Amino acid sequence: MLNVGIIGCGNISATYLALASQFAGYKITSCADINKSLADVRAAEYGCASMGVDELLKDSTVDLVVNLTVPNSHYEVTRDAVLAGKHVYSEKPYVLSLEQGKELHKLSVEQKVRIGSAPDTFLGGAHQRTRDLVDSDEIGQIVGGSCYFYSHGMENWHPHPDFFYQSGGGPVLDMGPYYISNLIQLLGPVKRVMAMSNKPFSKRTISSEPRAGEQINVDVQTTYNAILEFEQGAQITFSSSWDVWSSENNLIEIHGTKKSMIVPNPNHFGGEVRVSDGEHEQRFDPFQILSKANHPDANGVLKSNYRGIGLADMAVAIAQGREHRCNADLALHVIDTLLCIEHSAASGELAKTTTTCSRPEALPDSVARTLVNTL
Ligand SMILES: NC(=O)c1ccc[n+]([C@@H]2O[C@H](COP(=O)([O-])OP(=O)(O)OC[C@H]3O[C@@H](n4cnc5c(N)ncnc54)[C@H](O)[C@@H]3O)[C@@H](O)[C@H]2O)c1
Repeated sequence: MLNVGIIGCGNISATYLALASQFAGYKITSCADINKSLADVRAAEYGCASMGVDELLKDSTVDLVVNLTVPNSHYEVTRDAVLAGKHVYSEKPYVLSLEQGKELHKLSVEQKVRIGSAPDTFLGGAHQRTRDLVDSDEIGQIVGGSCYFYSHGMENWHPHPDFFYQSGGGPVLDMGPYYISNLIQLLGPVKRVMAMSNKPFSKRTISSEPRAGEQINVDVQTTYNAILEFEQGAQITFSSSWDVWSSENNLIEIHGTKKSMIVPNPNHFGGEVRVSDGEHEQRFDPFQILSKANHPDANGVLKSNYRGIGLADMAVAIAQGREHRCNADLALHVIDTLLCIEHSAASGELAKTTTTCSRPEALPDSVARTLVNTL
């Protein structure tokens, strides 16, 4: 059982704290934020200790730091925690440059600690069902597909949406990790990328509370259209935009030599997988354990939410001496791919990835059961 300290007590910290008791392998004992009053609030809500950031890093009882800060702080906070001898699990995007990722790799080897990163949604019951269908050759060799993430931005729900529109934000670095991690678990690493981008709005008006009516600057491109070529040969279109009011595109489609497959939302854990040969459609339920409704969403509706399963897998993997699934090689290759999309869009040239990774191990229901407590 690893003792976890959270750094970054904003919006998503509540989900990690609320769900922690459902997982094996770790317990959250403390939290910290650059704004200490936010840590005090979370500590009071969830019954852990509130600390200053340095105090948490110096606390010898903390084994692992969960980095829930904003993207521009991810590298620095992860680096400081590794240098303090802690394992680290970071929210996405893992880092904002390959240099940062390589530096963290070197430091983690020197310090003999592990690094992991979200997203862990690809471990959800729906996505492991998808993975099983691919691995059992149900759809044949994957030759193509498409991904769409379309919305009209983040200023209508997040209380402080500024970071989404600053360097380190944008629809590729923010939403891309869910899609690209999911594709990599199905297809393996990405080889090269061609992309275009656009920024139709230079300012956004916040409509969420407490800052409704306030305008924020848009520093990043907000629409990207890309084609990804994977090492195994498949070509997948990837389109991610915060400039779309409404869309009916399937979020992920995968086309194989035998059948096509419609994959549920890669930002969720549950959902039905649809497979068709053009004449007959089959519907596959998600794997059971990591798709059961377990947590209310913002509207109070019970949904399957297993944010933290990647951290549980990492904690148990450390104890067992095996590789964890949401590992730093995977996270860095995801970032490499996303930065290639941004570079290609900015330069007009094809961009080749320079890192690689293995497909993370599949997570069958029998193994998933060992990572959760309360089912
Ligand atoms: N909000 C979500 O639903 C959600 C979902 C999945 C992933 N994420 C990811 O989680 C991360 C955090 O998102 P959020 O929505 O909670 O953001 P947020 O702005 O609500 O919270 C971030 C917190 O980090 C603190 N912080 C910033 N820099 C710091 C530093 N150097 N040291 C200590 N604390 C620092 C801030 O004070 C703030 O309280 C982002 O990378 C985001 O992409 C968020």
